[in-house]
Amino acid sequence: MKNITVLTGAGISAESGIRTFRDSDGLWENHRVEDVASPQGFAKNPVLVWDFYKARYQQSLDAEPNPAHYALTRLEEHFGDSFNLITQNVDGLHIRAGNTRVYEMHGRLAMAFCSSCRSKTATSELDFSQKIPICTTCGGNMRADIVWFGEIPYYLYEIDEILKNTDFLLILGTSGVVYPAAGFVMTAKIFGATTIAVNLEEPENRRYLDEFYPGKCGELVPQIVDKLIQNYGGR
Ligand code: APR
Repeated sequence: MKNITVLTGAGISAESGIRTFRDSDGLWENHRVEDVASPQGFAKNPVLVWDFYKARYQQSLDAEPNPAHYALTRLEEHFGDSFNLITQNVDGLHIRAGNTRVYEMHGRLAMAFCSSCRSKTATSELDFSQKIPICTTCGGNMRADIVWFGEIPYYLYEIDEILKNTDFLLILGTSGVVYPAAGFVMTAKIFGATTIAVNLEEPENRRYLDEFYPGKCGELVPQIVDKLIQNYGGR
């Protein structure tokens, strides 16, 4: 069985109505990224940062997975343990679509953790009657379980192992600007994988791609998935 790895970015959720980053002049839903996605921003104005993540969380619950997300659940059904999905997205749509082998490397809106004792709580369980939800274990300030700028993404060791052992890397809806994810294509390629991307515009790391398909994930990903299943079987 061939090993298939998928890396997704904001572009795969665009057709679910969630705005991408680079298409909004570097703003995240009208906020400067450093104000709402950095430890310094949280220290300066935790109320603003929580208002922002509450809105993002609600938006993610209101959104529905699109045909590209569902195509990736078919890919996992066919390839089982030979399939892995790495995502930079925090919206949870891959899991809602039915994927289980998902590495949410930038965290998830559906979870929060205590900035003092690090204990985790589902966002849905937080007490928002206070402007900043408080940790029920130690009384510290809770924060969204999002990897902010200046912090280390999750699962980097596991991801490195996956990339070194994959036969295919599909890169879907990401501008290839933000590291370390933007460099995953190099690792996979050096270790012999075929690298394929779908994106509206040419990604920054185009030179490491064997195949690039310009266009929308919702249209192109189901076709690419059908071909992979046809050619490499799976179950
Ligand atoms: N189909 C395919 N590609 C699309 C679509 C679509 N329907 N809509 C937009 N795109 C493309 C855009 O052209 C853009 O190149 O998706 C890409 C999204 O790029 P970014 O907005 O940079 O998102 P991403 O690559 O996920 O950003 C990485 O940056 O701010 C951080 O932590 C944040 O995880 C995020 C990281």
